[in-house]
Amino acid sequence: MHGMDLDKMDFSLTPPAQEPDRQYYFMAKCREYIKEECERLNRPLRAAVITFGCQMNARDSEKLSGILLEIGYELTEDEDADFVIYNTCTVRDNANQRVYGRLGHLNSLKKQNKHMKIALCGCMMQEPSAIEKIRQSYRFVDLIFGTHNIYKFAELLAAMFESDRMVTDIWNETDQIVENLPTERKYPFKSGINIMFGCNNFCSYCIVPYVRGRERSRSPQEILCEIKKLVSEGVVEVMLLGQNVNSYGKNLENPMTFAELLREVEKIEGLKRIRFMTSHPKDLSDELIQVMKESKKICRHLHLPLQSGSTRILKAMNRRYTKEQYLALVEKIRKEIPDISITTDIIVGFPGEEPCDVDETIDVVKKVRYDNAFTFIYSKRTGTPAAAMENQVPEAIVKEGFDRLLKVVQDTARERVRLLEGRTMEALVEEVNEHDSSLVTGRLSNNTIVHFKGDKSLIGQIVPVYLKECHGFYYLAEYATDVS
Ligand code: 5AD
Ligand code: SF4
Repeated sequence: MHGMDLDKMDFSLTPPAQEPDRQYYFMAKCREYIKEECERLNRPLRAAVITFGCQMNARDSEKLSGILLEIGYELTEDEDADFVIYNTCTVRDNANQRVYGRLGHLNSLKKQNKHMKIALCGCMMQEPSAIEKIRQSYRFVDLIFGTHNIYKFAELLAAMFESDRMVTDIWNETDQIVENLPTERKYPFKSGINIMFGCNNFCSYCIVPYVRGRERSRSPQEILCEIKKLVSEGVVEVMLLGQNVNSYGKNLENPMTFAELLREVEKIEGLKRIRFMTSHPKDLSDELIQVMKESKKICRHLHLPLQSGSTRILKAMNRRYTKEQYLALVEKIRKEIPDISITTDIIVGFPGEEPCDVDETIDVVKKVRYDNAFTFIYSKRTGTPAAAMENQVPEAIVKEGFDRLLKVVQDTARERVRLLEGRTMEALVEEVNEHDSSLVTGRLSNNTIVHFKGDKSLIGQIVPVYLKECHGFYYLAEYATDVS
């Protein structure tokens, strides 16, 4: 925690230039505004952070929530609140469309609650066309900022409270990483940790490098310090986050590999499980496989995006591996770590893709036998090289390929998950089951979901469970006394 007392801040002084002190100054200022508003309305003010997209965004939302709590809001999931922020995603167009749809609903809520404030941030805000559209058609939005200046949230909020016009602050790039701002975690026992930001790969379909900027790694000291602090607060599982964790550390003053970082994280006492996301196949080293193999804490799960099984399409995607190289890599990993579960991402309908390319992808799925695969229909993202390609695939053909692939993915995943039936394994209990409150839901080291009889006192504990019945992608299990 930062050592500053927000109630003793002197606003007659100019704001500090240094970060994060500057943000604590603005948090104190916002706290004054919120206090006044609460007194005026004679009730607490409530804020909702709504997250779209990936785990990176989920972690960013915890940072936004931390600041909102610090300045005096109560947090709620209800959008009928005094402050609502959408942390947006733009990786595929349907994410953007959902934001526009929900903004219409927010506008009607704002008409009933005049002092409601609405903010937008995240990847979609880094796209000039989205900003233009919001300025023209969604003028009731109070604050817009992007991915690079999220650490300035408190300062931007203060500007919003002082203005009656839309406040917009979008940066094209940054090399800054601001540490030590408040965060509010969703789960007390597990947490995501950013180890790097941005991406340098420029896969030809992907907008991420344009909206998240160039690769920047956090220093190992900062990462280890943050994890130790989390562990002291009760966290037992961490997920190390980056667009391409396998290239971690290349741009540090003292370069370090991802495998070396993992070795250090492993040493943290009290930490029980380590996960990471996402691995680019082209950068997955033998050193990493060895570290995973020797580790007692790194979970038996690897998310290894394939995107396509056709070497021709992979080349056009700028993925920099062939079908054969990918298969050889999987074989090497499985030989060293036989019980590992492998999951993937696949895109269908990339420009120029033909049914025979989908056959190649299906062939890889059958050979690898993924435990799970996220299949996406190609979405054209303005500004990416693939968007300018002429041979875009007609919708009906994409749909045909997608359905064919999905069937194989589901059949192979079911078969794989079923292999554990009858075994007893450890599960980290995450929550009381949403549909049946006599059950709790947990996750095995290999990321498979299990449900079994239990109550909320088990949440956050790692317990042995007997994997009794496989139901497609999850297990109905029983609390066991011993791990076999
Ligand atoms: N269209 C469809 N899927 C995409 N992804 C990234 N960009 C696109 C796009 N333009 C998918 C990739 C990536 C996952 C996070 O999203 O499969 O691994
Ligand atoms: Fe996008 Fe490729 Fe970077 Fe992943 S590695 S974020 S798919 S450009």
